[in-house]
Amino acid sequence: MSGVSVTKGAEDAVPASTDLVVLSNVNKHFGALHVLQDIDLTIARGEVVVVIGPSGSGKSTLCRTINRLETIDSGDIRIDGKPLPQEGKELARLRADVGMVFQSFNLFAHKTILENVTLGQVKVRKMDKKTAEEKARALLDRVGVGAQADKYPAQLSGGQQQRVAIARALAMEPKVMLFDEPTSALDPEMINEVLEVMQQLARDGMTMVVVTHEMGFARSAANRVVFMADGKIVEEATPDQFFSNPRSDRAKDFLSKILHH
Ligand SMILES: Nc1ncnc2c1ncn2[C@@H]1O[C@H](COP(=O)(O)OP(=O)(O)OP(=O)(O)O)[C@@H](O)[C@H]1O
Ligand SMILES: [Mg+2]
Repeated sequence: MSGVSVTKGAEDAVPASTDLVVLSNVNKHFGALHVLQDIDLTIARGEVVVVIGPSGSGKSTLCRTINRLETIDSGDIRIDGKPLPQEGKELARLRADVGMVFQSFNLFAHKTILENVTLGQVKVRKMDKKTAEEKARALLDRVGVGAQADKYPAQLSGGQQQRVAIARALAMEPKVMLFDEPTSALDPEMINEVLEVMQQLARDGMTMVVVTHEMGFARSAANRVVFMADGKIVEEATPDQFFSNPRSDRAKDFLSKILHH
């Protein structure tokens, strides 16, 4: 090789935009219910956005539109500058680029932990099995469940399963991770072990959209809080601003309920 400082891909020649996920004027209905109303939301690379709001305000639906588990009626969603693909292999790749962790652990029950974290890498990312397994083991170690690799999901605690779900998403090297109330089905003593993994991910620079009622996490990990009510983004602010000085009555009311039970 010559003396030049090597192998930069062509894409590196153009500086990547800081915007990673861009929703523009997104609308969605479920029948008569206008569940997402003129949603504009831009998430920068490396940004951690916590979405909060009352039950039924559209938080899960918003998340699900970003990896096209739900279609939209109008508007535009782009990841890394590209509109969401409609179907086929492109869609499978999108689902890998946009990792998602739900409230329920939804691991494959009849596959081992290691297989759960290996499968997608082989099928979607076309990685060879040995490399995929090595990576899976490293990720399972990273989230603290390396010793469980050969067990089945039902043999693990909820907190452990949820950390496996995070490892499985990370194995695909996602551009962004969506978390929809990842700790709300967990017993209290398991919540922190999952939040700690998420905190570390945030510190490592992962772009994250997190729907959660864990206000401690929002305060310490979020760059921005997005408050939704009735299908609209009502307020966006830094956690400090939002928690100390919410502007809208809806947010004030919501915070008084969750902070003082
Ligand atoms: N598949 C569906 N078909 C019809 N209505 C739906 C569907 N999914 C969600 N909804 C409705 O859309 C609204 C928003 O639901 P969504 O699950 O996005 O709210 P949420 O903010 O995540 O609430 P929660 O805090 O309870 O999880 C609710 O009124 C819900 O009943
Ligand atoms: Mg929800």
